[in-house]
Amino acid sequence: MNILLIGSGGREHALAWKMAQSPKLTQLFIAPGNAGTSAVGQNIDINVSDFNAIKKVVLGNGVNLVVVGPEAPLVNGIVDFFEKDEELKHIPVIGPNKTAAQLEGSKDFSKKFMVKHGIPTARYFSVSKENIDEGIEFLEKLNPPYVLKADGLAAGKGVLIIDNLKEAIAELNNMLDGKFGKASDIVVIEEFLSGIECSVFVITDGESYKILPEAKDYKRIGEGDTGLNTGGMGAVSPVSFADEIFMQKVEDKIIKPTINGLQKDGIIYKGFIFFGLIKVGEEPFVIEYNARMGDPEAEVVMLRLKSDLVELLEGVVDGNLSEKSMEFDSRTAVTVMLVSGGYPSRYEKGKVITGLDKIENSIVFHAGTKAQNGEILTNGGRVIAVSSYGKNKDEALAVSFKNAELIDFEGKYFRRDIGFDM
Ligand code: AMP
Ligand code: GLY
Repeated sequence: MNILLIGSGGREHALAWKMAQSPKLTQLFIAPGNAGTSAVGQNIDINVSDFNAIKKVVLGNGVNLVVVGPEAPLVNGIVDFFEKDEELKHIPVIGPNKTAAQLEGSKDFSKKFMVKHGIPTARYFSVSKENIDEGIEFLEKLNPPYVLKADGLAAGKGVLIIDNLKEAIAELNNMLDGKFGKASDIVVIEEFLSGIECSVFVITDGESYKILPEAKDYKRIGEGDTGLNTGGMGAVSPVSFADEIFMQKVEDKIIKPTINGLQKDGIIYKGFIFFGLIKVGEEPFVIEYNARMGDPEAEVVMLRLKSDLVELLEGVVDGNLSEKSMEFDSRTAVTVMLVSGGYPSRYEKGKVITGLDKIENSIVFHAGTKAQNGEILTNGGRVIAVSSYGKNKDEALAVSFKNAELIDFEGKYFRRDIGFDM
């Protein structure tokens, strides 16, 4: 089978690495990919949202399956584009259609969905310019801190958590005035939930589902979970507090009602569902849905998946996922993200990366990198994810931290406390 994987991050390198191990794979193309993915497949330099260019690649290379890594093409309707095109409609795409991808693409949609299907989540109120007075009333009834979320995609920056009511009202106005462009034409105000977060992933063919290993990611730039939010600075799987009892609750109260809810609403969902959860006391609540795998969670989940990923994806396409078996590695997997100096604010690209040839016992997933004139250069905020196995978290982290020191580029930074709270 020839597969085209869309995307260019650490998640895509991890997915590509895993797919490349499958005996079912003939050729793997990654668009646009990075300096790491070119070691396991062929990179094709096109934009992930240029559907016509993707069409040309698919038809020109005999691609039999398309796997979408990031959310933007899904939310922009790549699945619907394929379904409507005479030449593409027989080629399956792993990922939800535009309607289903609203679980990630619209916070207002996902909150309505959760309330309708009795899925535990924070209380909320959706505000636009028309009902701002009611929105302020709702805010006034909440206890601080106040959670304000842009309804649409805002590159991971659309959530504000504010301690002071006056400031929250001012920010609500700013958001409705276009702070995040059209993404904040609607703002979801939420009750703040206090607890510990983890990510749970499901793969579904629309009828049945399989639960992948859970993971915890570390979103803040600074040690001790301080400073600005990033795409994710590291991850650990399994998650110690996500024990059997908790995971059973997650399945019964969240996963099953989500899959059933999609079916009841006539929404066809084929692909990965990412449940961003928070454990409040002993109970799971949904913080957010994503329509894709997590990044950097994929860089640990793929290490723990023993089964053939391509075979599971075939199950999604053929609608017989329930007949496939899934096996996990019982070891702990961790990843430590090396990022560019200044990230997640302004940072420079094009720094030479050295030391990659010195790495032993870790799997190095590239994120923002590119190859140029025989050198590997930084090409993004998140640069390299150093993933390792261990008998336990500490053993795995020791390997990743050691290797994180060996890789170098100007301005390199990483968190030395990944896994500190579990
Ligand atoms: P989101 O983009 O919805 O995942 O939100 C980003 C981050 O904000 C989450 O990972 C949480 O740490 C935090 N967050 C979002 N919603 C809430 C909430 N209702 N209560 C507490 N923290 C939240
Ligand atoms: N690591 C969080 C995300 O992928 O959105």
